[in-house]
Amino acid sequence: MDANEIRQKFLEFQKAHGHKVIQPAPLVLEGDPTTLFTGSGMQPLLPYLLGEPHKDGKRLCDSQPSMRMQDIDDVGDPRHTTVFEMLGNWSLGDYFKEEQIRNFFEFLTKVVGLDPEKIYVTCFIGNKKYGIPKDEEAAKIWQKVFREAGLEAKIAEIGTAAEGDKRGIKPGERIFFYDDHENWWSRGGGCETTPIGDPCGPDSEVFYDFGADLQDEAKYGKAHPASDGARFMEIGNQVFMQYKRNEDGSFSELEKKNVDFGGGLERIAAAAIGSFDVFKISLMKPIVKKLEEMSGKSYENNTDEMRVIADHIRGAYLLAAQGLVPSNKTQGYCLRRLLRRAILRALDLGISANFLSEIVPIVASNYEELPDSILTHRESALDVLLTEEKVFRKTLNRGLRELKKISQKQLSGYDLFKLQDTYGFPLELSVEECYREGIELTPNYLKEFEAALSEQRERSQTASKGMFKGGLEDHGEQTVKYHTATHLLLAALQKLVDPSICQKGSNITAERVRFDFNLDHKMTPEEKAAIEAQVNEWIEADLPVVHDEYDKEYARNELHAHGQFWEKYPEKLTVYTIGDFEKPVSREVCGGPHVEHTGLIGKFKIKKEESSSAGVRRIKAVIE
Ligand code: ALA
Repeated sequence: MDANEIRQKFLEFQKAHGHKVIQPAPLVLEGDPTTLFTGSGMQPLLPYLLGEPHKDGKRLCDSQPSMRMQDIDDVGDPRHTTVFEMLGNWSLGDYFKEEQIRNFFEFLTKVVGLDPEKIYVTCFIGNKKYGIPKDEEAAKIWQKVFREAGLEAKIAEIGTAAEGDKRGIKPGERIFFYDDHENWWSRGGGCETTPIGDPCGPDSEVFYDFGADLQDEAKYGKAHPASDGARFMEIGNQVFMQYKRNEDGSFSELEKKNVDFGGGLERIAAAAIGSFDVFKISLMKPIVKKLEEMSGKSYENNTDEMRVIADHIRGAYLLAAQGLVPSNKTQGYCLRRLLRRAILRALDLGISANFLSEIVPIVASNYEELPDSILTHRESALDVLLTEEKVFRKTLNRGLRELKKISQKQLSGYDLFKLQDTYGFPLELSVEECYREGIELTPNYLKEFEAALSEQRERSQTASKGMFKGGLEDHGEQTVKYHTATHLLLAALQKLVDPSICQKGSNITAERVRFDFNLDHKMTPEEKAAIEAQVNEWIEADLPVVHDEYDKEYARNELHAHGQFWEKYPEKLTVYTIGDFEKPVSREVCGGPHVEHTGLIGKFKIKKEESSSAGVRRIKAVIE
């Protein structure tokens, strides 16, 4: 059974058991101060798990695309992914432990066809400090279920995972008690860290045994379900949500007891094909195959890179297909980070040309069965990702060139700051690149980087108070967008109307820009339309915006920066460049601030063009 079939059969199975199939929630959450992405199936159901009635009743199920950026550094091993689908079913004050345990066991063994002998489970040992009892009930139910399937199923007390590493499994054991780090579920982890007000409870996790030969005892200790080895993989978690955390830190029983079941689709699919490597399942294999083809290298010898690339592009596609665009903030930054890491890893495989156009369609075809209600931007996703790839590759090539140029034995945080500030080459990439190239970093490089950053902040504050303020009402997000749009407007006027056009004045607020420039005629409707189209084309191309300090002479005569007051400028000044550094769209002397790339601006529209004074015209424009 492949992953798409497992998803479908799971929903059919739960429907036949009286569950209503609900639509999954979007992956990208807005306005939730606690989290950026949906990270589990229960998250959208939080109010109902706390007692609010759900319009679809007490038995619900779905398959929820989920994202856990916190796992990003684990990607590369056989089982971790940042993005995955969580099969889920819930009882809101309806059935409880016995029905849930029987339900999942039946699904795994009868529907997916897993061998019951390969299934191992864990239960909660209890917590004395908070007076929460051991979950004997769940363990007993499991024992009954296993025995009905003809298995001995002894119960063992383990405690902590570390104790498990020492003790291992004794013959006949199949059910294990662990502490709250393993078998307590809340959105914050164990009992101590359960968030106030959240529903939570003991859980019973289900593991698939891929065989004793996979346990690396020297590295992970003896084989047992909660060890980190490749032998056991968690394929489902049944949370018996029967508690709520109170303000004073204690726990009290919920009026209604719920079941929150979540099972990783990719992991169940891996168990179904008997592979401990989730990158071998139907949703991943075609991506890996394409990477092998493009790089001429094998998965066996380049496992880590190919896993990271496959995972990250899958994540990036799912985010973009939900309408997210790369940016330097919150979720948009996560999308950017996934793409950048994928592109860098592809470089390690020798793939140095744009390659997303080959991979993304494969990912997209894997997800045709996800509902349109969450993948609302399937059509534009590819373009968004390709644009980002193009922009990043430029930044990357330039940054790498510069990094090599300055590359001494050791780089300081000041060097790294310069790379970021001038060439838009981000700190984390420099660090990764230095690591790969064997270039040492000074021990205090992070502190140095921060010092350089705050020095620069101070400098630009001084500049913005003085002559460089440049008609900006404030430095709010919207005003900053207008400011960059104004540079594009001037560049478009010079390009399409008259190269001798200069700025004669500007006034920018969060609502509009008013821009004065020299021109001896009223602009024709065609000229206005062409200017508008040109500015929007540059916005859509999502060009990088970078800046640096230069000597006045160099800025004027070598860089040919546009400036209004050369005579009044100090000897050192800041120049902003938009687009390719060698062939920029716009280059101006300016104190900033600006957006970091033009895609953030929005749609540019000229509202009015009129005379301001003799030989000076005025444009009023807005961003929509
Ligand atoms: N909410 C539970 C989990 O994420 C099922 O593991």
